[in-house]
Amino acid sequence: MKLHEGLFVFVLLLWFIASFMIHGSNHHERKPYIVYMGDLPAGSPSTTVADDHHNLLLDAIGDEKIARESKIYSYGKSFNGFAARLLPDEATKLSDEESVVSVFESRKKRVLTTRSWEFLGLNHQYSKRNPLIESNLIVAVFDTDSPSFSDEGYGPPPPKWKGKCVTGPNFTACNNKVIGANYFDLDKVTSYPELSVADTDGHGSHIASTVAGSAVAGASLYGLAKGTARGGVPSARIAVYKVCWSVFCNEMDVLAAFDEAIADGVDLISVSIGSPPMDFFRDGQAIGAFHAMKKGILTTTAAGNDGPELFTVENVAPWIMTVAATGIDRGFVTAFELGNGNKFTGGSINTFSPQKQMHSLTSGAKAAFNNGTPHQGNASACDPNAMNQSKVKGKIVYCLKTYTDPSIKSLGGTGVIQLTQQQTDYSSILLLPGATIPSVSGKYIDLYINSTKNPKAVIYKSETVKIDAPFVASFSSRGPQRISSNILKPDLSAPGIDILAAYTKLATLTGDTSDSRYSFFTVMSGTSMACSHATAAAAYVKSFHPDWSPAAVKSALMTTATPMKIKSEDVVLGSGAGQINPTKAVHPGLVYNISFDSYISFLCKEGYNNTTIGLLGGSKKYNCSKIKPAQGTDGLNYPTMHKQLSDPSSAIEAVFYRTVTHVGYGASLYRANISSPDSLSVKVFPDTLNFVKLHETRTFKVVVKGKPMPKGTQILSALLEWTDSKHIVRSNILIYREKI
Ligand SMILES: *[C@@H]1O[C@H](CO)[C@@H](O)[C@H](O)[C@H]1NC(C)=O
Ligand SMILES: *[C@@H]1O[C@H](CO)[C@@H](O)[C@H](O)[C@H]1NC(C)=O
Ligand SMILES: *[C@@H]1O[C@H](CO)[C@@H](O)[C@H](O)[C@H]1NC(C)=O
Ligand SMILES: *[C@@H]1O[C@H](CO)[C@@H](O)[C@H](O)[C@H]1NC(C)=O
Ligand SMILES: *[C@@H]1O[C@H](CO)[C@@H](O)[C@H](O)[C@H]1NC(C)=O
Ligand SMILES: *[C@@H]1O[C@H](CO)[C@@H](O)[C@H](O)[C@H]1NC(C)=O
Ligand SMILES: *[C@@H]1O[C@H](CO)[C@@H](O)[C@H](O)[C@H]1NC(C)=O
Ligand SMILES: *[C@@H]1O[C@H](CO)[C@@H](O)[C@H](O)[C@H]1NC(C)=O
Ligand SMILES: *[C@@H]1O[C@H](CO)[C@@H](O)[C@H](O)[C@H]1NC(C)=O
Repeated sequence: MKLHEGLFVFVLLLWFIASFMIHGSNHHERKPYIVYMGDLPAGSPSTTVADDHHNLLLDAIGDEKIARESKIYSYGKSFNGFAARLLPDEATKLSDEESVVSVFESRKKRVLTTRSWEFLGLNHQYSKRNPLIESNLIVAVFDTDSPSFSDEGYGPPPPKWKGKCVTGPNFTACNNKVIGANYFDLDKVTSYPELSVADTDGHGSHIASTVAGSAVAGASLYGLAKGTARGGVPSARIAVYKVCWSVFCNEMDVLAAFDEAIADGVDLISVSIGSPPMDFFRDGQAIGAFHAMKKGILTTTAAGNDGPELFTVENVAPWIMTVAATGIDRGFVTAFELGNGNKFTGGSINTFSPQKQMHSLTSGAKAAFNNGTPHQGNASACDPNAMNQSKVKGKIVYCLKTYTDPSIKSLGGTGVIQLTQQQTDYSSILLLPGATIPSVSGKYIDLYINSTKNPKAVIYKSETVKIDAPFVASFSSRGPQRISSNILKPDLSAPGIDILAAYTKLATLTGDTSDSRYSFFTVMSGTSMACSHATAAAAYVKSFHPDWSPAAVKSALMTTATPMKIKSEDVVLGSGAGQINPTKAVHPGLVYNISFDSYISFLCKEGYNNTTIGLLGGSKKYNCSKIKPAQGTDGLNYPTMHKQLSDPSSAIEAVFYRTVTHVGYGASLYRANISSPDSLSVKVFPDTLNFVKLHETRTFKVVVKGKPMPKGTQILSALLEWTDSKHIVRSNILIYREKI
């Protein structure tokens, strides 16, 4: 989102300075790399694993002392590998080693409610719960910081918990709610007193409280969006692993958190962090999630905030649950009135009630310095160095650009009416009373200011309104993807616009030091917020079915999701299977299960190097030629079916082999119901599935055929629903081709 861009550059600059100072001149060409070595070798204690790492490094570097200094960290609790500062030729040498899967630079990744849970139908009072099992669930949150949550009414942590509680400045203890806290800063970008799990920017508190926050009645942001704030699984425990410092998260830290969390005994992992997708085994999150999956832990991640363009989705590995953001039925509007009585509404969140009836109104253009005065920037756009402070002071200022509130505030202005070129579907909290309006409405206000002797305006406090939902957030990243092109991503969607959840007491509402507002709750938007909702939904399903595999939990959430109400051609590429419906997901009827071995066959089909495959299985040395080959277009028992045409002018031909597991009660007869456009033939063999008892599996085949797509068509979308009298098991079928 644009809001963070300024911050981005600033932080990057700081990081360069810091890394220069730490590493000095003799190591300045070395960069942090991750050397990934697959699963742990059978029965090796971690000390011998670390010795192996040193010996490998010594071989590649040739100098004992430099090898020792270059090593940053040994992974070895849940998978094998290490992080080290390497020169490019040393990285190449290491990647040729038999025992090494991949060597890649550790990338900088970025950090990507009251109303929302009721909207999803998971009403605390009326929804069935399994509090006993729920309270045994441990959800790992990888994020910026750790929140402090009350543990009133919680028993001691479940016995399986083996994690740590690392305290530090502003974070003094864990409790029976937040049972674990740890941080990773292997590249030493942060120092005391900031080096702590303490929540200094509020993102972590927001995420963790959406997942598993205890209920807090009367939560609101200055009276806005009032209601009871609570997480989706309020009884579950939270373990926080802080891997982001400011908005950046280092890949080797993310991987360290996976290594630790899997070994600590968590049940689910939530990672609201993203970066452009990479080959699965050169991507820290895909690697971490792969080993989590092997241990039965589902990893949920955010799809990214780079929409609405296609091919922007991140975190695309099939063993990850990738979550897009949708809008809920509550929006914010801010009304303002001009001196002539004309009223307008805009976006943005204004927590201030007007102090007096009317304020003087001016525009950036009119507040410009006198002609001939040296200045910088563009006054119409309200650049602070282009405006005369004495013409801004005490006034509401009309600006042709967004994010002008800090400038107007710094010059003593009392409010802002600002233009946005792109209509956004989320609201930002402004530093002072303000409204954001679309460019088209701007002309009238400009004219009023220019043609009136004493122009005036008043901006009212924001109000919440009911809006049509769900819809895909404009910023939410879209599929398809190029890493494994026949797996449809994102998988599903969850609320991620204007979500009210817990905030930190260590930062002001906007994070700006000139702001004096502090709040226990705030409103945030992003696929991060969607990710936390989906993690909670997965935990909710898991509390009823503790023995379900990660793929089964994900399948249940996908096949019961609600399709978007507001449709566009690319709606499935934006929302995946649709918006999560946690209560329905508890009883999906059928699930598309995927075993670890099936993922291995899939990877063989995708052409992964035999050496790689051998190392992924650890002691069980897989060999592609000895495994039942993955069949069909995608080679995986995925709950959606997708094909990207490699030749855009070719006829459509795709075959999907699927196996469903009966997880309903007693005998059931399911019938296939297909909806498809005229240009697409979709046939299912067989088209009825008969189950006699629980956990029986049935296999079927879906054959999709069609003529070459006409010019101008890029997407053809169909639907397969298996229905008995009680369930609808929905699978999207999507054919995509590049524009020609
Ligand atoms: C597989 O990877 C290893 C190590 O990177 C390499 O030595 C080998 O040549 C590769 N094999 C094939 C068949 O590509
Ligand atoms: C945290 O604690 C340190 C030292 O105890 C203190 O200096 C600092 O102001 C506190 N607040 C933040 C936001 O770090
Ligand atoms: C700034 O505005 C004041 C008050 O209108 C005016 O007296 C002064 O000349 C202006 N200065 C410049 C440099 O524009
Ligand atoms: C000043 O900014 C506005 C709004 O972004 C833009 O329309 C205008 O062209 C800019 N003027 C100059 C001189 O750059
Ligand atoms: C209003 O006046 C400013 C200069 O003071 C000018 O830039 C702007 O174009 C005018 N707007 C209209 C709608 O006349
Ligand atoms: C799914 O497969 C796993 C093994 O891969 C198995 O343990 C589990 O029972 C299966 N069924 C469900 C519903 O998870
Ligand atoms: C895999 O199995 C084939 C056939 O048995 C064998 O020739 C090959 O050497 C094996 N590859 C590995 C990496 O073990
Ligand atoms: C993997 O090894 C098998 C047998 O050794 C061979 O048939 C297959 O082509 C190899 N795959 C790759 C990707 O090298
Ligand atoms: C088949 O699916 C369509 C579209 O979702 C739906 O309108 C129809 O009611 C379904 N038919 C049955 C028999 O479930």
